[in-house]
Amino acid sequence: MKILGINASPRPDSNVKAALEIVLDEAKSNGADGEIVNVNSLTISACQADGYCKEHDGECALNDDMQDIYKKIEDSDIILFGSPIYFCDITAQAKTVIDRLYSYFMNETYGKLFADKKVHIIASHGAAPVEMFIGSLNTQMNVFGGLGFQTGEIITLEGNNVPGAVKGKEDQIEQLKALAASL
Ligand SMILES: Cc1cc2nc3c(=O)[nH]c(=O)nc-3n(C[C@H](O)[C@H](O)[C@H](O)COP(=O)(O)O)c2cc1C
Repeated sequence: MKILGINASPRPDSNVKAALEIVLDEAKSNGADGEIVNVNSLTISACQADGYCKEHDGECALNDDMQDIYKKIEDSDIILFGSPIYFCDITAQAKTVIDRLYSYFMNETYGKLFADKKVHIIASHGAAPVEMFIGSLNTQMNVFGGLGFQTGEIITLEGNNVPGAVKGKEDQIEQLKALAASL
């Protein structure tokens, strides 16, 4: 089983990244394989809606680091999509990646391409009640479902304004390890 963690936080000692590492390390100890990509350190343009993908079987015209992410998604069984909550939503980095998945809608085989792959969303946030942003996370999960992925869990990790805070929270670590065990 191959796992791709997508970290859409810009912070070096990011809680999202730490959470993805906890899941990945646990899954690896159970025999899985995988990696984390840090979106903020890559060059990924916003979708230009140029229509190229419509004419080229889902291929995106933009020759940037998203091309590697497309390959990694296609090569993985599990996608862990991780984002901090910024103003009750995912980060701009996360949305940029999601918009670039639009090209897959133009690939005739997209529904079949992802049928064996499952997406889980992991979000880290401060003090806002989950009700304020769960709608956005459900929307992102519906996007993955619409693209043909199996939809999995949405995990929200509260009270993590301090960089790396999640690493000291036993309850959140247990929640993440439970996700790893279920993969
Ligand atoms: C621009 C900005 C907006 C934020 N908006 C919210 C918010 O609406 N709700 C919330 O609970 N936390 C909010 N936060 C706090 C982050 O979600 C929180 O610190 C998160 O754990 C950061 O994840 P990271 O450590 O992976 O970067 C915001 C932080 C920033 C920088």
